[in-house]
Amino acid sequence: MTALQFSEATSRRPSVGRACKVPIPVIHLKTVQQIDKIRKSGRLASQTLDFIGEHLVPGVVTKGLDKLIHDFIVGHGGVPATLGYKGYPASSCISINEVVVHGIPDGRRVKDGDLVKIDVTTILDGYFGDNARTYLVGQVPEEGVRLATATREALNLAIAVVRPGARLGDVGWAIQSHVESRGFSVVRQFVGHGVGLAFHEKPSVPHHGRQGSGLKLKSGMVFTIEPMINAGVYEIKILNDGWTAVTVDGKLSAQFEHTVAVTADGAEVLTLS
Ligand code: MF3
Ligand code: CO
Ligand code: CO
Repeated sequence: MTALQFSEATSRRPSVGRACKVPIPVIHLKTVQQIDKIRKSGRLASQTLDFIGEHLVPGVVTKGLDKLIHDFIVGHGGVPATLGYKGYPASSCISINEVVVHGIPDGRRVKDGDLVKIDVTTILDGYFGDNARTYLVGQVPEEGVRLATATREALNLAIAVVRPGARLGDVGWAIQSHVESRGFSVVRQFVGHGVGLAFHEKPSVPHHGRQGSGLKLKSGMVFTIEPMINAGVYEIKILNDGWTAVTVDGKLSAQFEHTVAVTADGAEVLTLS
């Protein structure tokens, strides 16, 4: 996910007459050839999450998981997009329990009952695929199971409203209405994002919103939907490492992310294995 305040891809207005150097934000509409490349990268990103799920057992160290992720991506001809991105030091984000996003893999051991979010972004042949899942390790408390389930359902409901003519507010509302009905809250400070030719492109994709409001979707848009859903309040704070985002109340958070293309008559999920 991208922070709302992150700068996004811009391009220069074609100069008409005299040179105009004002950068304007653009939404790249992808061609079928580009979507095919993003799908290949997205498949690798998804296969990476399948692969790492088999290694996610109590006692495993998160830095070891990150090494496995790195080697899996590189071994399949890809590049981990997060490694060195704005100084980020790892090939994945591993965020446990009250850590919402951008957990940095380190010496921490996964334990039975943890809610573990793993976010992987691949670059394959120059194209980006971005996805994340919440894994339940061992015997997770019931609230954690309900939270992860509601978050996965919310992502699927959001994908179901994506088609040309629908609006980003419809996408946000699908998520917000579902999780709030279960007593959970939608993180505001991070949003989904255009993706494919770069890691974080226009538009920003909020996970809350009002039906009928916001950007109108067009065929060829490719963006992530990646709801971060908290068991308690939606406020988060960033730790002193400059990355790790945690819930302010210390309660659990869950996330699922897919890269999605707007097609002629609906949506295609590009991060499937
Ligand atoms: N993959 C994250 C996203 O969904 C971004 C991680 S950026 C990092 O947009 F630098 F923290 F890795
Ligand atoms: Co993302
Ligand atoms: Co991601």
